[in-house]
Amino acid sequence: MSDPCTNLLLFGATGDLARRMLLPSLFGLDTDGLLPDCLRIIATARSVHDSDEYRAIAAAALEEFVEKERRNPADVARFLARLSYVPLDATKTAGFKALAEAAGDTRKLAIFLSTAPSLFGPTIAGLASAGLAGDGARLALEKPLGSDLASSRVINDAVATAYPEDRTFRIDHYLGKETVQNLLALRFGNALFEPLWNAAGIEHVQITIAETVGLEGRADYYEGMGALRDMVQNHMLQLLALVAMEPPAQFDPTSVRDEKVKVLRSLRPIDRANVEACTVRGQYGAGAVSGQPVKGYADELGRASTTETFVALKAHVDNWRWAGVPFYLRTGKRLPERMSEIIVQFRAVPHSMFGDAALKPNKLIISLQPDENIGLMMMAKAPGLDRDGLKLREVPLDIGMANAFADVRRRIAYERLLLDLIEGKQTLFVRRDEVEAQWQWIDAIRAGWAATGMAPKPYAAGNWGPPAAIALTERDGVSWHD
Ligand code: BG6
Repeated sequence: MSDPCTNLLLFGATGDLARRMLLPSLFGLDTDGLLPDCLRIIATARSVHDSDEYRAIAAAALEEFVEKERRNPADVARFLARLSYVPLDATKTAGFKALAEAAGDTRKLAIFLSTAPSLFGPTIAGLASAGLAGDGARLALEKPLGSDLASSRVINDAVATAYPEDRTFRIDHYLGKETVQNLLALRFGNALFEPLWNAAGIEHVQITIAETVGLEGRADYYEGMGALRDMVQNHMLQLLALVAMEPPAQFDPTSVRDEKVKVLRSLRPIDRANVEACTVRGQYGAGAVSGQPVKGYADELGRASTTETFVALKAHVDNWRWAGVPFYLRTGKRLPERMSEIIVQFRAVPHSMFGDAALKPNKLIISLQPDENIGLMMMAKAPGLDRDGLKLREVPLDIGMANAFADVRRRIAYERLLLDLIEGKQTLFVRRDEVEAQWQWIDAIRAGWAATGMAPKPYAAGNWGPPAAIALTERDGVSWHD
């Protein structure tokens, strides 16, 4: 019997994510010879197209979202030849039979659901009814995986009826980002940091994901979620878990995820009692971003709203390693620049022999966006004869990733995740217990906001959130790294 080949079923294949990210990622993998020759991609969505029409949609997506130099016509033609399309109303089980027929050999199957969460349940039932949930079938789910703990459990339960945990791949696209994985390399591939990576060596940690964009045509989704659920519940808590976790024994799905979930469960609850002291909510009003005037959130939405487009938090991981170390998190839309970074602020030297020279404690800056960079701020002697005492200056020890790895193409996060899905590698996917621990912590904050009537404070687009976000850290003598 021939070795069964993995086929990929792509749900939501005409949607924004598929056009912007998934098709370009699959094309990138194909061009580099990383997809099995026999892999076929069966695209599906509600709209009625035949396969030729879908290939035209895919070709247009590649033209829009893949740089010209990487679009070699022979590569494009080979990639398009892998695609076929089956229209499907996922709410009706009957249509799944046609999908199963199109999938052909289903002994090895990767399924990617990039659809509205309301379709997860019926889609899973449909897949199971058509024999698309057998032992060789893996299911990947794109966020949002619910909007609170209860709804995420409903989704997870529905998934579990057909796909066991070791065949379920929950996506957090931040885990596919190169610098996020580099955080693991930095922490566990170097002896330098680990002895200091604790409350004795680190004073605080900051995690910022700042965006300049506004609603981007996602009003319905975003209005129902807000910044806390859209960004903190998933991406930011995953970053926090990777910064704070104990060293896993191996780079394997169980070891890494076991350590992450311990951190998530050690997060000190923020609830009614401390929500006002530990969180700030904001909503952008009219302002200017990158020199361009932009509307306020409510204007973009077309009605008044109490959804936050900015959130800042002071979190604690209550365990031995991190006792007393604040983790400051902030994220928002319509901030002054697109910037994602993790700052690890080390403690000051216990005694300075340099008299009045101001010594700045070391700081590790892990930049995810717009550029990947890892920098360690150090004190060094400024050149000179120093008749009045040594002069020290803070200078960066930089690994500009773009230079250090100039020969390597930077990939879209989804390239890594899709390849891992196709090959069945789960380490960079989120396990059920992690998602649930994340929701539990987030739900308490939301309940606290509701109980205390904490509404978002306004900030003008193009600012770093409301002034209260600055006060949140300044109260502790800490400034955000802008
Ligand atoms: C998504 C959020 O998960 O992440 C979006 O739903 C956000 O609101 C996006 O814009 C940010 O991702 P990235 O990779 O551009 O930082």
